[in-house]
Amino acid sequence: MPISTTETTISPALTASGSFTFSELVEQLNAQTSPPTLETIRTWLANAEISPLDVEPYLGFKEGNYWRHRVCRNEAVEMLVICWRPGQKTPIHDHNGSHGVVRVHKGLLWESIFSYEEDRGLSYSSGRECPAGTVTGADVPDIHQLGNPDASGQDLVTVHVYSPPLGVLNTYKLGSSQIDLYTPNDFPT
Ligand SMILES: [Fe+2]
Repeated sequence: MPISTTETTISPALTASGSFTFSELVEQLNAQTSPPTLETIRTWLANAEISPLDVEPYLGFKEGNYWRHRVCRNEAVEMLVICWRPGQKTPIHDHNGSHGVVRVHKGLLWESIFSYEEDRGLSYSSGRECPAGTVTGADVPDIHQLGNPDASGQDLVTVHVYSPPLGVLNTYKLGSSQIDLYTPNDFPT
């Protein structure tokens, strides 16, 4: 399947097999000079072949909080591998103008979706289970929470691509109209 965007067209060598290797995907992301669309990123991530060996350099878990590992980043796009122990989850957040796609590499992801109205504040809309292999996109202004359910009994590894790269995120509280700011900055040094 040809993979193209208005900004960039992948070279024929990459599209010949209809899929990316992990390193071709990283190369493609690094080549972006303007933000690719949500649909383009979804297609790339869905068509990438990602093996346990590919993600191994980015594996690392810690107690207390999920751990983000950056694969690549430029002004247009960034890629992360996030490692979650059972029970670890993000704050309820949006992406402050970025769109993003998540691919579940291993384990079980739970996503809760919320809606926000200024007079009513934040309320729960829906939730869904995303097993390994799921590719899910978050458009602007999706408000959600991701996590590895306590009862999963297994670690979770997810691959994320955001465009433009994430900066300061907005965080929300159920039943409240208060919006706080949150800067994810827990990269290993
Ligand atoms: Fe998110």
